[in-house]
Amino acid sequence: MCGIVGYIGTKKAVPVLIKGLLSLEYRGYDSAGICVLNNNVLDVVKDKGRVKNLEENPELSNLIGNIGIAHTRWATHGIPSKENSHPHLDNSGKFAVVHNGIIENYTELRSMLEKNGYTFLSQTDTEVIPNLISYYYESKKDVLKAVSLAVTDLKGSYAIEVISPYLKDSIIVARKDSPLVIGIGENENYIASDIPAVLNYTNKFYFLEDNEISVIKKGKISFFDSSLNPIAKDIKDIKWDATSSEKGIFEDYMLKEIYEQPQVIMETIGSRLKPNEKCYFDDLDIDLKNINKIYVVACGTAMHAGLATKYTFEHFCKIPVEVDMASEFRYRNPLIDKNTLCIFISQSGETADTIAALKLAKNAGCKTLAVVNVIGSSITRIADYTIYTHAGPEIAVASTKAYTCQVVLLNILAVYFAEVLGYESKELEDFKMEILELPAKLKLILDDTKNIQDFAKEVYTKQDLYFIGRNTDYAVSMEGSLKLKEISYIHSEAYAAGELKHGPIALIENGVTVIGVATNPNLVEKTMSNLEEVITRGANVMVITNQVIPDIKASCIIQIPKCTPMLSPILSVIPLQLFAYYIAKNKNLDVDKPRNLAKSVTVE
Ligand code: F6R
Repeated sequence: MCGIVGYIGTKKAVPVLIKGLLSLEYRGYDSAGICVLNNNVLDVVKDKGRVKNLEENPELSNLIGNIGIAHTRWATHGIPSKENSHPHLDNSGKFAVVHNGIIENYTELRSMLEKNGYTFLSQTDTEVIPNLISYYYESKKDVLKAVSLAVTDLKGSYAIEVISPYLKDSIIVARKDSPLVIGIGENENYIASDIPAVLNYTNKFYFLEDNEISVIKKGKISFFDSSLNPIAKDIKDIKWDATSSEKGIFEDYMLKEIYEQPQVIMETIGSRLKPNEKCYFDDLDIDLKNINKIYVVACGTAMHAGLATKYTFEHFCKIPVEVDMASEFRYRNPLIDKNTLCIFISQSGETADTIAALKLAKNAGCKTLAVVNVIGSSITRIADYTIYTHAGPEIAVASTKAYTCQVVLLNILAVYFAEVLGYESKELEDFKMEILELPAKLKLILDDTKNIQDFAKEVYTKQDLYFIGRNTDYAVSMEGSLKLKEISYIHSEAYAAGELKHGPIALIENGVTVIGVATNPNLVEKTMSNLEEVITRGANVMVITNQVIPDIKASCIIQIPKCTPMLSPILSVIPLQLFAYYIAKNKNLDVDKPRNLAKSVTVE
């Protein structure tokens, strides 16, 4: 969950590396560092704290040179400190390494190296890597061979960059279970853990696969398998626009991404769904007739997108759907076989638990389909089929636009399945029209946010909040509750409204805040009765609805546009995202980089 950047070319490396690190801070922000190769010397500047500290470090001006590697850290082994920051050097000072991932067998490797006279300055797992390279270099006198032998010894996950005076004009990179891309320039090349870090310079990328090694020079890039046999690779054109990874007029990425939702939903719908035509997905030839169960597997917000769309698949496709957290699914021997379709949802396409769950499903013979935002990411390369959300780069740690795009795309997928299975109906046609109307409805919500802002101001000092709803309103409540927790650090929980009286209502007393989502015409009365029950016990209530509701003593009622309950999470989540955002702003918190969290969770 750390961020990696690298540069080799004709420009000074440091400004490119700093710019890249700044745009990667969502991957980790407790320490940052840079190493530049200059006149056969590795110069390192690193410290704990944000990239801004590094940028302001006067020592940085000594780092001249056109070859460099950089890192922003999310601590796993060892506290955030200067010693534990990357890049790490080997004992001889001849190999500098930055690393994203976790080396599971680092204790064994460390004791082996210690027995061979190596000493260690940090508590990190990473520091074994430069020393291991140095250890093999002693006998092989070839850096590429030494790197390849070193990575063969590593258990766990890694994306590494290596520079050394022995290499002079190259950077060596390697990966396993951690993302790494190489951006191609003119007489210069870039390396990054995520595309947005170097999107300002290029749209052409190579994606390194697991167990591959690459030697990157300014005018040439070579790829090798784990036995150092040369391999060929295709260049991928990434259509994302560089400005889409900048804040523009917005104060924070999160707010920008919330406001981008009408546009990115339109792009996600694209040409897949048109009025009076059948839905269309390129290359999706799953034999649905034999599928008797769908599993939707993901983590966090992406899992909530699965929960919000389970109803559509079951309703229109008549296939039972189970939604599971990837971290649970992978360890519970799920009952799956060749007649199960497993759908994996992921913004980053790099989430370790989701990848492990996907591999398990593949081994069990299931059909696997990925719903992913980042083109070419690991999950897309493992799954049998991939369909992309077109949310563009999502930088804020808290996912907003990726969620709504996932929910939209899964709904379209359900329509497509229903059509393939022959379940066409007037209701299905109306549903398609409603999907097409979503961007305009989203805009209406985003145009008037005053009541949400006022309510956030009223309750931002509270310690606990509850979200309630039924069916899809419950699914979206879970997402609202997660958003609030992660960026405002307020404890919150989501309950199916009907469950309140089975326990949680005991928590309701004077002044407790409850958010009710009530958009289902068949269930609105029931949810409103539950809200009456909490109001009677002193709760301060905000209601999000698109129905005519009884006159209750709610502090705030947010009316959103009408739509079928199967699509309502796409609309009702907007006030919930904004509510979390304004609460965090009232608390003066860094909404884009909440504590302890990083954007892609590439470790277990
Ligand atoms: C919450 C959030 C996380 C992610 C989760 C999965 O706002 O962003 O819960 O949704 O870590 O990440 P992806 O979608 O990249 O697999």
